Amino acid sequence: MALLPITLAPNQVLYEQVAERLQRLILDGTLKPGDRLPSVRKLRSQLSVSTSTVMEAYRLLEDRGLISARPQSGYYVKATALSLPQEPAATAPPRQACDIDISLAFQVISAMRDRTLVQLGAALPALELLPLAQLNRLMGKIMREHSTVAHSYGMPLGCPELRTEFAKRMLDAGCSVPPDQMVITNGATEAIYLCLKALTQPGDTVVIESPTYFAVLEALKSLGLKALTLPTHPRDGISLSHLAEALQTGEVKLCFLVSNFSNPLGSCMDDTQKKRLVALLNQYDIPLIEDDVYGDLYFAGPRPKAIKAFDTENRVLYCASVSKTLSPGLRVGWCIGGRYHAEVSRMKSILNGSNAMVPQLTVAAFLANGGYDRHLRQLRRAYQDQTAQMLQAIYDYFPAETCVTRPTGGHVLWLELPQGFDALRLYHKALEHYIAIAPGVMFSASGQCYSNCFRLNTAVVCSEKVDQAMQILGHLSKKQLAENLLGR
Ligand SMILES: Cc1ncc(COP(=O)(O)O)c(C=O)c1O
Repeated sequence: MALLPITLAPNQVLYEQVAERLQRLILDGTLKPGDRLPSVRKLRSQLSVSTSTVMEAYRLLEDRGLISARPQSGYYVKATALSLPQEPAATAPPRQACDIDISLAFQVISAMRDRTLVQLGAALPALELLPLAQLNRLMGKIMREHSTVAHSYGMPLGCPELRTEFAKRMLDAGCSVPPDQMVITNGATEAIYLCLKALTQPGDTVVIESPTYFAVLEALKSLGLKALTLPTHPRDGISLSHLAEALQTGEVKLCFLVSNFSNPLGSCMDDTQKKRLVALLNQYDIPLIEDDVYGDLYFAGPRPKAIKAFDTENRVLYCASVSKTLSPGLRVGWCIGGRYHAEVSRMKSILNGSNAMVPQLTVAAFLANGGYDRHLRQLRRAYQDQTAQMLQAIYDYFPAETCVTRPTGGHVLWLELPQGFDALRLYHKALEHYIAIAPGVMFSASGQCYSNCFRLNTAVVCSEKVDQAMQILGHLSKKQLAENLLGR
């Protein structure tokens, strides 16, 4: 097996890249359980790296449970490295535009925000992994140094320092955007809402992935829009052939997609698909709202590009935030409206004028000097490790029939149990044990699909408590399947 020399990607240390290259070979089956890995000396010369880089990489793969060292013999792929549950197939939602039913989401949301539960339900970042002390210090400094600014109305587009910082970060996603073409928003949620509101009329049809992030369903519902859900694959996202068919009908007003590590499936389109998607949008003259809140949370570099990076006609409205990487509570996000910038800015100013200044200045200061890249490296590593541990726990504790996604970034897993399994029943049973999960129907536009599925948040620091919660969920799932068999 010959490996090409590594070219150092920005924002990633070398041994992690070596480990990730090998991990990919293990996960895609090139290196099989029981196979011997190249000797340290051989890999060192193949990749043109140092001995300690290879040793660190092997240590990391050991920590991830993928390889083990045999004395005097070398490193081997572990027998259990691949014995993970199956992945779910592409979804097959109903193919008609539907009115949205999100009644269940409202019932479930309060449990998902309750931090006294083992919170495997909400897609919240683990606060322990965020640089909160540093953000708090910056905020205090800003309050002292800008005591009046903190109480003034901000600029309608948002604070210029912050827009400049976001414009710099956008280069990593392949987009070169002038800061004056950006609007600062209250999180990605507001960015998405502004775009929808600016571009649609009640009764319009919006194409979405299925399953999809439930807050978008709420936004569509509140604006009187219909959802046309398309089959979506857990690895590559929405089916472009189905999208082409849908656009041909002339009934679609716009599309909404989470481009990188979607919620809940974790899918990530590759660059070829992103280009094909843009070509389709151009052909049918359709705008796209791209939600990229998880783009920075890739497990193996480089950062996946935004769809906006391929946007030849400026018709992609890009939305993102720092909610998943720095602080969900500061409510700082941004939107690049492209050719619809004026409409989006107008909507922002009608809705709430501008954002509060202190959170904006805090995030700007952190991005400028706070070590954001170092923080992201740690966060990505933590999420990758936690995702691997949760996958292992699913393998260890859940029914053998369980299918689970294998995301390459972000922090959610989507589990599918056999038809007839009732994830809502599991949700209620789990609450009796102080555990929250997100039942699948929440992510269905019609409220009719995915009753046998649920989502788990992996952005929790893996601890005995979390392991116990996974054991309980596995046990409850097995019990329910057994009861179904007995017809109870
Ligand atoms: C896909 C997706 N978009 C947007 C959001 C919300 O982002 P924000 O908190 O910045 O509004 C979430 C949060 O879970 C999400 O998963």
